[in-house]
Amino acid sequence: MQCSYFDAGICRSCTLLDQSYADQLAGKERRSRGLLAAFPAAEWLPAAASAQEGFRNKAKMVVGGTVEAPTLGILDERRRGVDLSRCPLCSGGILAAMPALTAFVSAARLEPYDVPARRGELKYVLVTESPDGELMVRFVVRDEQVLPRIRRELPALQRALPTAVVVSVNLQPEHKAIVEGEREIVLTDRETLPMRLGAVTLSLRPQSFFQTNTAIAIELYAQARAWIDEVDPASLWDLYCGVGGFALHAAVPSRRSLLAGATDARPAPTAPSTSATDRPRDVVGIEVSPEAVVAARETAAALGLDRVRFEAADATAFALAATEPPELVLVNPPRRGIGAELAGWLEGSGVRHVVYSSCNPVTLASDLAAMPSFTVRRARLFDMFPNTAHVEVITLLERVA
Ligand SMILES: C[S@@+](CC[C@H](N)C(=O)[O-])C[C@H]1O[C@@H](n2cnc3c(N)ncnc32)[C@H](O)[C@@H]1O
Repeated sequence: MQCSYFDAGICRSCTLLDQSYADQLAGKERRSRGLLAAFPAAEWLPAAASAQEGFRNKAKMVVGGTVEAPTLGILDERRRGVDLSRCPLCSGGILAAMPALTAFVSAARLEPYDVPARRGELKYVLVTESPDGELMVRFVVRDEQVLPRIRRELPALQRALPTAVVVSVNLQPEHKAIVEGEREIVLTDRETLPMRLGAVTLSLRPQSFFQTNTAIAIELYAQARAWIDEVDPASLWDLYCGVGGFALHAAVPSRRSLLAGATDARPAPTAPSTSATDRPRDVVGIEVSPEAVVAARETAAALGLDRVRFEAADATAFALAATEPPELVLVNPPRRGIGAELAGWLEGSGVRHVVYSSCNPVTLASDLAAMPSFTVRRARLFDMFPNTAHVEVITLLERVA
């Protein structure tokens, strides 16, 4: 991938950009296998490769510069704004939106937040593009004072950017390195962005996590579903479920329809060929973000899935309080992993199969070390984050002791 920002030394976020894509992928596989060497997988499936550019469905743009000339991008080492509004990682709809969003900042007279001076109003612009080309745009601001100006300019923004179907303001008053605050004010009639992934259309609301790379997410969910079908549990939990991607893909009636409906998905080439099962499953999804749980419930209702339930709770607390474990547990935690307590619970739980999808093989390895009764049956790398060293590794674990 060619990137003028990288070539000019303006942005070095894509740390692997000077390697060929084949070398990137081989290096990631080597590193992941090395980190998991103490837990050898019976089978490593071929890595799922990604498009190298245009794959990011979400842009997290730090706002810098001035009201007249705002920058959307990152901060340099002096904490001054650097414009990256043509970052080639972003999907086409996000890139196309950048000029209108930059103009909006000026029109609404939103003063970019100056980190060293602790002065200003607008901190971030967060944009997500759905597979259908619709956008969720969120303005992270310091306080409510800006709301009348944002509301005033919103109709003009929507005329310039009709794809912006969900627009909200997030309040983040603190001078801290966190992107968003707890309060969200949705300014549009629509509050959710439908994320159509084949047979399952997930609902995305502000303050909900979504996998960064839509095409790879489709393959990841299909892979998990294929392994779940092989095990064919009557009950499963999806811990750290977000808007319910794994849970809902596990619950829809047939894997075949799931892959057939995916217009922009490339079906997992090594998906096991066992026939899909339609045996009903009891599925429970647990997620700490109440907004994500609302969205997951909406999708389950839209799909008519009455044996799927979502709860807003801490994953570890939920597991520790449960009276009866399910037959299979899927976990997809943040980078810190599931931690010793939940790993210890899984170890002693009697659960026979675990599907662990991890964005950090370092914590995956430490969690596996705390679960010595399990062996890794299968593993597969999904290149969710091309051009960086980050990976998603999914494993199927089976109890052997
Ligand atoms: C890597 S994301 C995975 C989301 C989801 N599985 C998906 O495919 O989109 C991790 C999720 O864990 C949630 N989370 C973080 N800490 C949690 C906790 N202690 N208990 C439950 N969920 C948590 C986050 O809000 C986020 O949605």
